[in-house]
Amino acid sequence: MQSIIRVAYGGHVQRLALWRRNLYGGARLLRRMRVPLLLLAVLLVSLPMASAQPRGVHLAFGSDATQEMRVAFAGPPATDAAVEWGTTDALGNVTSASAKPMGGHELVSYTAVLSGLAANTTYHYRARLGGERSEAFEFRTAPIGRADFRVLHWGDHGVPDAENPLGEADGDAPVRNVGLARTLMPAMHVVAGDLSYANGVPTTWDKYFDMLEPYAARTPYMAAVGNHEREAGQGFTQYDARLPVPNHPTGRWYAVRYANAVFIALDTEHACAEVVTRDFVPGLLTQSCNGGPQPDQYRFLEDTLKAARADAGVDWIVTYHHYPLWSDGRHGSNLAIRNTWGPLYDKYGVDLVLQGHDHVYERTKPIRGTNVTQVGTVYITGGTGGASHYAFKNADPPEWVAGRNNAEYGVVVLDFSGINLTGRFVSLSSTTLDTFELQHVDGGVKIRPHSEEAPAAPTPPSASTPALAPMAVALALMAVALRRGRHGA
Ligand SMILES: [Fe+2]
Repeated sequence: MQSIIRVAYGGHVQRLALWRRNLYGGARLLRRMRVPLLLLAVLLVSLPMASAQPRGVHLAFGSDATQEMRVAFAGPPATDAAVEWGTTDALGNVTSASAKPMGGHELVSYTAVLSGLAANTTYHYRARLGGERSEAFEFRTAPIGRADFRVLHWGDHGVPDAENPLGEADGDAPVRNVGLARTLMPAMHVVAGDLSYANGVPTTWDKYFDMLEPYAARTPYMAAVGNHEREAGQGFTQYDARLPVPNHPTGRWYAVRYANAVFIALDTEHACAEVVTRDFVPGLLTQSCNGGPQPDQYRFLEDTLKAARADAGVDWIVTYHHYPLWSDGRHGSNLAIRNTWGPLYDKYGVDLVLQGHDHVYERTKPIRGTNVTQVGTVYITGGTGGASHYAFKNADPPEWVAGRNNAEYGVVVLDFSGINLTGRFVSLSSTTLDTFELQHVDGGVKIRPHSEEAPAAPTPPSASTPALAPMAVALALMAVALRRGRHGA
């Protein structure tokens, strides 16, 4: 009897006829074939295969940051998606992750909600999918009551993706910014919209969270939605599936309490009552708010501000959203939204507003109404994530501008300490390009004169040892490179 074996090796097909049926003949054949079979095995192992390993692991606090953490990651469809977690590296607890499809993308987004956690406690965890596990990470829950803590802010980030001509990233600036942020070890990170610039290409979102994982798997990444999250043909599908923030049932707005501060994320894509049905356009050009505010979001904002101001344990009220109410960047101040939400900011003495959309760093003096005041709200545009640089409208800064830079990417660093706050804009080379000191008082913030001595940094929230900046940058770059190799990106 004749049998034919086809052996694929080096792109060629060889036909081998076997004439011997006895055991010794088979053994001789196996000996003769051992080298080609070994090479075939190596070839098969090296072929790109769909890995079930969880990728792009990232965190977000629940509404109560003292006791809830949400863990999100992506991967192929699987039935055992979960997070293993505990207060020691022995873990010991398992929480199932719910799956969300991502609009025809082959990967699924998974989210596990870890609740009932202890305040001010370090937890260890790993994501699990298809029997495979992510590396082990740590996070820390928020403390109860007043504490010193650090928050970072940027918007308009992006990710290098040579396969997406619609993407936006200035070289490896977004990657380097992640490395910088990691060295600064904040308690949480606020993202004022325009995260990945995937612009309709879901694999760019995968790469974005791969890039973020070394940082956002340890630091809750609290996002507000930007205009680039409204993607052609799929709207907010990717953002909604992938960002595990605790959105309000009626929209993409939420609040997080951390120590003596309340952080309120707002959706400037839906600030006005007008229904916007278009896909992405650069700017909120069609909304006037002439028909009034989006009622659910406006009610949420006012209720949250009122409750925060009535809470004796809350000093700071910080809002964050994409479109700027005050900006001298290319897009400029969004007057429709300023006229809609600004009166609430004034009424409840909002201290700080973190914005994006204009790809600049800019900080205002305290403002009430449309006037610079001693006590008011300070608006900071941190559109310096790494997408691109924008020009300012005015060569000379308007009188309401206290500090600005549109030549460097970097991160806004906010160190809260009681009723005092020290802020900085730090560039990718770890150079501080602006420093300011604010104090919360009744009705908002006032600028404190610069102190003689640099304030002490707050206690790092993570138990891990801070790495040197260059090392973190290198690690972030390596992580992206490894991910690309693993996933064929
Ligand atoms: Fe934008």
